[in-house]
Amino acid sequence: MPTPNPSALEFLLTRRSRPAKTLTGPVPSHDEVMTILTAAARTPDHGKLEPWRFIVLEKAALQRLANLVTEIGSTTNVEPEKITKMHGQFAKADLAIAVISSPVDSPKVPLIEQQHSAGAVCLAMVNAALAMGWGANWLSGWASHDPDFIRQGLDCDANETVAGFIHLGTETNIPPERPRPDLSRITTWVKS
Ligand SMILES: Cc1cc2nc3c(=O)[nH]c(=O)nc-3n(C[C@H](O)[C@H](O)[C@H](O)COP(=O)(O)O)c2cc1C
Repeated sequence: MPTPNPSALEFLLTRRSRPAKTLTGPVPSHDEVMTILTAAARTPDHGKLEPWRFIVLEKAALQRLANLVTEIGSTTNVEPEKITKMHGQFAKADLAIAVISSPVDSPKVPLIEQQHSAGAVCLAMVNAALAMGWGANWLSGWASHDPDFIRQGLDCDANETVAGFIHLGTETNIPPERPRPDLSRITTWVKS
């Protein structure tokens, strides 16, 4: 017989991100961030390749990234509204963790599986933070896919990409429930 963990299941059935723009200080301490990273690193990883790494971005680093958004956005003709939104994403944040997909050469594990694992890390990180009572939100935005931005701002190699920025902080309000998928539409049961 299975051994249920009702509180873990209840958490998974009710979990909900807290929009980054509603987060404020205080932010998780160094030890709490380490707990969040420990949980995130406990993510399925085919072949134990560890094809991801973390960059903890504190306030001054986030302001530096905000400035870089403006610099790169204006030289690459990104629309002004998109520059302003992306700038604010970093400038208003107090703490965020960049999850870097850092694939390795493997004869056995295809690139896409390694990138999936990086995405799974992002969700594990959000969930760990939420379970600890922190607000958390997985964001991307155009800059996270801009090779110059991630090279200059995050020191990424040419083969690395940003799986997400996980914003962390204190929630100021609980967002309304988000409509969830109609399982009957996306699920097929195959009986034979
Ligand atoms: C890869 C990825 C990137 C995302 N980027 C953004 C983003 O830039 N802005 C945004 O508002 N939501 C973004 N989201 C959506 C939120 O992280 C989140 O899925 C949504 O707020 C619902 O969260 P919940 O299911 O925990 O309630 C992104 C989600 C994923 C998976």
